[in-house]
Amino acid sequence: MLSYRHSFHSGNHADLLKHLLLLALLQKFGEKDKPFTYIDSHSGAGIYDLQSTNARMNMEHESGISRLWRRDLAHPLLQRYLACVESVNQDEQLQYYPGSPAVAQWALRAQDRLHLIDLQSAEIETLRGFLGRDGRISIHQRDAFEGLLALSPPEPRRGLALIDPSYENKADYQRVVTTVRKLQRRWPVGVIAIWYPLLAKARDQSDWLKASLLREGLEGISTYELSVAAQANEYGMHGSGMLVINTPWQTQAQLQGAFDEALPLLAPEAEFVIATHD
Ligand SMILES: C[S@@+](CC[C@H](N)C(=O)[O-])C[C@H]1O[C@@H](n2cnc3c(N)ncnc32)[C@H](O)[C@@H]1O
Repeated sequence: MLSYRHSFHSGNHADLLKHLLLLALLQKFGEKDKPFTYIDSHSGAGIYDLQSTNARMNMEHESGISRLWRRDLAHPLLQRYLACVESVNQDEQLQYYPGSPAVAQWALRAQDRLHLIDLQSAEIETLRGFLGRDGRISIHQRDAFEGLLALSPPEPRRGLALIDPSYENKADYQRVVTTVRKLQRRWPVGVIAIWYPLLAKARDQSDWLKASLLREGLEGISTYELSVAAQANEYGMHGSGMLVINTPWQTQAQLQGAFDEALPLLAPEAEFVIATHD
């Protein structure tokens, strides 16, 4: 039974990192006319009202999108990110925040395909209402890991999978490793982007996850970690990371440039670290 609802967290610093990287990867695929596939294994609802009761509980967007909203930003990736968020808002007020399915739809061309997977009925219902009429998009209510493998290799094969579990279930860490191993065999040309939390010392499993994935002998691995506070001992998420397999050329440079500009706006103690693992 899943209790995680992304509406409590939408637009926070973790979404900011994830969606900036997602936009950079999708932009890379869009540089050639050839179609691509995007698979989102943990889609969530696709659109979030930042004025909802859930979002107002902790106002997490204040650690992310709200820091950049209406700013005059110079880096092209930051400009694209703001344009994408603006596309779901009517006026200058920030009310809605796009989830990863909406970010991907914004970057999609007529020839591209999207597969969106989630298990929760409420999220699937919102997704269907918001994106269900787009003929390029298929929405699947099923288990993320099983669904991702069943859809792979997709047609067209050129493409990207985002794996974005909540890790509410600790088995998700092991399931990510096992699924990526199988996925890479089925879809060796696929770019795979995995999100993971950076947690308090007593709970953090990011080093285990990275080491386990690195042992799989995968190609072109890079990691991107954004923290907005110091690591606590017992509780809390101070940041998050993304691990990319088959990293497209110039992704690191693009993200570094964007965060050189964005980092001072996020938090005084914010840090951004990119690593390549050859
Ligand atoms: C972190 S949220 C996704 C956020 C979304 N990717 C975004 O960036 O806007 C994780 C989602 O995964 C879903 N989920 C968790 N475990 C799942 C599973 N085993 N199979 C399918 N969906 C799952 C939850 O319902 C939740 O909507």
